[in-house]
Formats: sequence, C-alpha cells, structure tokens
Amino acid sequence: ATFLRRRFLSTQQPPKPKAPIKSAIITGAARGIGRATAHRLAADGYVLTLNDLSSSSSSDDALTTLCNDLQSLGHSAHPFHADITTPTSVSALLSSHLSVYGSLSCMIANAGIVAAAPLLSVNPNDFLHILETNVIGVFNCYRAAAEQFIKQGTSGKLIGASSVAGLRGQPLLGPYATSKFAVRGLTQSFAAELAGEGITANAYAPGVVETGMWDTIAEGFVRVEEMMRKAGKGEKEMEDVEAAEGEGAKARTIKKFTDALVPLKRHSTPEDVAGLVGFLASEGADYITGQTYAVDGGIYFT
Ligand code: NAI
Repeated sequence: ATFLRRRFLSTQQPPKPKAPIKSAIITGAARGIGRATAHRLAADGYVLTLNDLSSSSSSDDALTTLCNDLQSLGHSAHPFHADITTPTSVSALLSSHLSVYGSLSCMIANAGIVAAAPLLSVNPNDFLHILETNVIGVFNCYRAAAEQFIKQGTSGKLIGASSVAGLRGQPLLGPYATSKFAVRGLTQSFAAELAGEGITANAYAPGVVETGMWDTIAEGFVRVEEMMRKAGKGEKEMEDVEAAEGEGAKARTIKKFTDALVPLKRHSTPEDVAGLVGFLASEGADYITGQTYAVDGGIYFT
C-alpha cells in the first residue's frame, strides 16, 4: 500500500485552474481553415485574436473584414498582423491579446505554407523557408503561449496544424511533408515536457481541404508537368502528375487527389477541419494530449 501510494498517489496534483475567460489566438486566420476555425471558436464562446501576415492593401484586408463580420454577429475578435516566423512578432501578438482580454487559454498555430516540387529539384533555401514557417513558426507560437500559461498559473491548450502529409510521405510535397511530420514531433514534445504544468498539446491532420493553399499546389503541379515534358518523360509519368493547366487547375488538382485518395469521395471543407479543432479546444478534450488526429475523409486508414 505504501509503495502504491508513493508510486501513484503522492505525485497526484489537483488540476490547474482554467484561465478566467475562454480566449484563443488563431494564426493564419485570414482565410481557409483558420477563418473557419475562428467562426467555430467564436460560436463556442471564445474571444479571439486573429493573426495573419499583413495584406498588400489595407482596404482589402481579409483579416480585418473577418473580425468585423464576427463582431457584427456579437462575437469578440480583433486582428493582429504578424509574421509568426519572428519571435518578437509573436510576442507582440501575445501582448496584443493580453492587452484586450487579460489572459490566454488556447493557442491555435494554424498558419502554414506549401510548395509542390520533386525532391530532386528542391532548392535548400526554399526547403528552409517551409521549415521556418511550418515548424519554427509553430514553435514560436507554442512557446510564447506555454510561457504565458505558466505565468498565469493556469492550464492551457496548444493546438497545431499537421497534415496527412505529416502521417505518410507524399510525392512532390517532400519539404511540406517533412515539416508536417516535425509538427507532430514538436507537439508531442511540448505535451511530454509541459504535462506537469497542466498544458496539453495536440495537432490536427487535414487531408484535401479546398482552400487557397491548393492554388499553390496546382501551380506546382503545372510546373512539374512542364519539367517532365521538357525532360521527355513518358506517358505513364505524365499521367502521374496529370495536367492541371490553365483555368480550373485548382479544381482539377483537388478532384484528382480526392478521387485517388479519399474514401469518403469528397474533398473536405474548412468547416470539417474546424469541427475537430473546436473539439480539441473544448473541455471535452481536457484529458487528451500528445495526439495528432486526422480529419481526412479516411485517407490515412486506407
Ligand atoms: P491557406 O493557405 O488557405 O491559409 C493559410 C494562412 O496562413 C494564409 O492566410 C497565410 O497568409 C497565413 N500565413 C502564412 N505564413 C504566415 C506567417 N509566417 N505568419 C502568419 N500567417 C501566415 O491554408 P489552409 O489550407 O487554410 O491551411 C491551414 C493549415 O492547415 C496550414 O498549416 C496547412 O499546412 C494545413 N493543412 C491544409 C490542408 C489543405 O488541404 N488545405 C491539408 C493539410 C494541412
């Protein structure tokens, strides 16, 4: 009994209190999955700071428009433009959140970038750029939030964007897949190191989601096809990177991936992913940590 008490009971701690209000920072929130997640969390009672890169024109700023839309629905959301690859910018993002809401309960490190190219033609600087955004960017966000949770003496949730490309390697998406595997390692490591502080860390792994990101993937596929044509590759290889040229390239690329990969035979909406992120941010996920969940229409289990 003494052994059991020592082994199991003496280390038990009361759960850390929650932050006084439900508040979250969402990065990469101007469009796509980030924007859908903002709507989802606002509907679930979160007050929000929404982040994205500065837009080229202040009159056409999607982040500010999103915040105005949420406010007109009675929610509380304010924009903060920052590049998450710079730690000082992430500190400024957190300070802005704290100056409005006083505390933080959830960090959603959603921002990410993609590029499509064969590994043998990847430029190391382009590779680094992807790692800098998708891995170091997430690290900067997790670290700033975790330090804040510890300072507050509260529990807190770290949630990051991985991908099905972070569960299994993908042709033509090598650096991206590498970065999304890394997000899982980073998330599990935060979970392991900070569990004693009442901090949980989990990642979501979307499949084929129709967002602006697929413009970049479709462009990459067009370039790959041109490279293969110039290299005189045969019909079979050409089929593998089926032409996705001109108008409708994005729609055709998404359809090609969906038909080939997705058992549920439809691509995902950003709202499908936001449903999972909303759950991970909710009290229902308080006892979940160190996990990556696929929300992919069944890609991963086949
Ligand atoms: P998206 O490209 O539509 O939106 C991403 C947003 O992040 C953009 O508004 C962009 O400006 C912002 N962003 C990029 N770099 C940034 C930086 N350094 N600092 C601040 N903001 C930055 O992407 P989407 O599709 O909404 O994806 C969201 C996350 O989900 C990404 O991490 C992505 O890799 C991941 N994902 C997306 C999938 C898809 O099929 N669309 C599939 C699997 C994962």
